[in-house]
Amino acid sequence: MTATATATVSYKELGFVNTREMFRNAMKDGYAVPAYNFNNMEQLQAILTACVRSRSPVILQISKGARDYANATLLRWMGRGAMEMLKEMKEGPVPVALHLDHGDTFELCKSCIDSGFSSVMIDGSSKSYEDNVKLTKQVVEYAHAHDVTVEGELGVLAGIEDEVQSEHSHYTDPAQVEDFVKRTGVDSLAISIGTSHGAFKFKVGPGEEVPPLRFDILEECERRIPGFPIVLHGASSVLTSYIDMINKYGGKMENAVGVPAEQLRKAAKSAVCKINIDSDGRLVMTAVIRKVFAEKPGEFDPRKYLGPARDELIKMYADKNQTVLGSAGRV
Ligand code: G3H
Ligand code: 13P
Ligand code: ZN
Repeated sequence: MTATATATVSYKELGFVNTREMFRNAMKDGYAVPAYNFNNMEQLQAILTACVRSRSPVILQISKGARDYANATLLRWMGRGAMEMLKEMKEGPVPVALHLDHGDTFELCKSCIDSGFSSVMIDGSSKSYEDNVKLTKQVVEYAHAHDVTVEGELGVLAGIEDEVQSEHSHYTDPAQVEDFVKRTGVDSLAISIGTSHGAFKFKVGPGEEVPPLRFDILEECERRIPGFPIVLHGASSVLTSYIDMINKYGGKMENAVGVPAEQLRKAAKSAVCKINIDSDGRLVMTAVIRKVFAEKPGEFDPRKYLGPARDELIKMYADKNQTVLGSAGRV
């Protein structure tokens, strides 16, 4: 299919950038760009504030579920509003990409491209290899006609990817990556090396260590597609301080386990150029709101519990950029 430029709004007019240069820089200097999901105003404010203060490029992610929850139109206007807010911040702007997370159809990707997204993910990982290639290629052709970058996925992560739930993960087969990248023309590739979505990533008994990610698969992929940007999904660390807070203030998340920061640091130094984090943000919000409600049961002004949650989110994101992804100070 040859697509013509039919976009109603180009992301360039809105001030977003695609991920091409972001990934080139990340690959060259050995860090990963944060991709943080947002569903509401407080999360968006916190992500931008943290990334502007820590001078980090950032990928703002909107999932299909987020579009359904917050309304697709409202959410993308929030993204645009964020770019205006950015211009007013005294620290100065940082590169921001607006990205569709786990797009599952050509129509969804097209709708996002037409309405100002600078990057889309087409997740054909639940399909057969040939169907994944076909769908991804179709999205790439349309996206590239608008200078929008595309992330594909090979291998399946366990957990919920929007409505697609997979109980078991399937590691990426490195033998497929070169053919996939060549035939689809994707700009980056999400691979499965043992992470999963959500807050319960591993079953770990008392005193047991979290199993290491399959860095051997990552290395084999790097060998077969040298210099090509790799994406790591399911990369929340599920920080114990917030899990403890949740459990202390009435929650019940006893066996929550994430990816140790040390393993993410190692990944960020490799060809992994984009690290996806959603659950850690959810946990921070839940922990702080539970604490406020427990300590002030009479509180009923949402600003009094969402405000402290936003403050804590800023700290968590800034710390990730600084100490885990290595993206702080790169702008
Ligand atoms: O990959 C999953 C992301 O965390 C998005 O989650 O589909 O519940 O918005 P969601
Ligand atoms: P987490 O659930 O580990 O935050 O992963 C988020 C993600 O991969 C979004 O695409
Ligand atoms: Zn994901």
